[in-house]
Amino acid sequence: MTSRLTFPKGFVWGAATSAYQIEGAAKVDGRGESIWDRFSKTRGKTFKGETGEVACDHYHRFAEDVALMRELGLQAYRFSVAWPRVIPEGAGPVNWLGIDFYDRLVDTLLVAGIEPLITLFHWDLPQALQDRGGWENRDTCAYFADYAALMISRLGDRVKYWTTLNEPWVFAFLGYRSGEHAPGVKAESRAVQVAHNLLVGHGLAMRAMRERRPNAQLGITLSLWPTEPATEKPEDIAAAEFEWQKDCGWLLSPLLNGCYPADVLRQYQQLAPNVQPGDMALIAQHMDLLGVNYYSRTLTTARGNISPVPGSEYTDMDWEVQAPALRRLLVRINKDYKCPPLWITENGCAYPDVVAADGQVHDARRIKFFEEHLAQAHHAIADGVDLRGYFAWSLLDNFEWAHGYSKRFGLLYVDYPTLKRTIKDSGRWYSRVIQANGLEVSEPAAVGGR
Ligand code: FCB
Repeated sequence: MTSRLTFPKGFVWGAATSAYQIEGAAKVDGRGESIWDRFSKTRGKTFKGETGEVACDHYHRFAEDVALMRELGLQAYRFSVAWPRVIPEGAGPVNWLGIDFYDRLVDTLLVAGIEPLITLFHWDLPQALQDRGGWENRDTCAYFADYAALMISRLGDRVKYWTTLNEPWVFAFLGYRSGEHAPGVKAESRAVQVAHNLLVGHGLAMRAMRERRPNAQLGITLSLWPTEPATEKPEDIAAAEFEWQKDCGWLLSPLLNGCYPADVLRQYQQLAPNVQPGDMALIAQHMDLLGVNYYSRTLTTARGNISPVPGSEYTDMDWEVQAPALRRLLVRINKDYKCPPLWITENGCAYPDVVAADGQVHDARRIKFFEEHLAQAHHAIADGVDLRGYFAWSLLDNFEWAHGYSKRFGLLYVDYPTLKRTIKDSGRWYSRVIQANGLEVSEPAAVGGR
């Protein structure tokens, strides 16, 4: 038995990338150094010491990439601007060649009928600002707002959708607590302060952008990786709830309710961030959209996490495939917070793809992953969630941070030695979904469950 799931009229279908992961051209046309250039060149930080120096060379091949987007029938494209490409030192002189690149990219997208959505900060902070304390220094918040103002002044006549930050939680906690990401610090108290300063930067940028383009659609993208209880036991539910508040709630609550979750704040004690007068109001400004990045969930009990979850499938990132949790997540945030319209700004999976003898990439597991997640997104809409669009992560295989090029998330396969792109089966499948504004799913996917 199959059923047909049709999305609301006007639902937007896209794919996403980020600057450091695809652009390459790290030393071209006046681009400054970013913390990811520095970090990835530091011994032992990334898989095989790989860096984003060349990446997918999108900087030089963007026209070809936009042509491929058009071939796929994408309606929207989410990309990030590399701050050090447009302001090499993070503050001060503008690099007009860098601005030109994004100008041309936007124009090429518009000619192809593809709506751009710009992310201003997808983790590649100018190294010069890091040298002055990075996001631990509140001056960075003001510089971020200046940079946001510059970008929306230059591109806001053509780009309607903007998000300030990508996944501030991941940036702060992987960058400053586990040290897995740039800048590679391991100190929880610093992570908590960085997360707060990122939100202050978001608030200042929102204000600066609004002043310049009152009609733009502005928001932020969060990584929402829910923790769910493994049983109905009250102690397991309480444990999961605390972890939810600590991860998802830690940013959702200040942004949408104007305060940090009280229980977590209490537990943090001296780790709690230094909040200055006016910060919370600045952070909780009205947003026009909230970007949700969903990849997986954590299943927990009062005695700890369950991993692997018996019976579950895992991707090449070792992330549990758990589509029904996407529906529960969307429904929960819609119920618990005063949410603006939601957009899934990232969802996808890594699998070890290969080009087969027939020259094609037969990534059936990725198609199944997308099918299941789209079915759950559709159910969430039926449950009353105002979900406006979906961006597959990623348009093309790329530099997956500390994992280097070892994880492939793309709809397009990239052969790194030659940089040749090949549309994967999942890309062709996605293209049909876009054309039909929906998909056929078999009954189990249509119903879902735990
Ligand atoms: C997200 C990041 C994105 C990509 C995916 C797999 O956390 O925003 O850049 O690495 O994970």
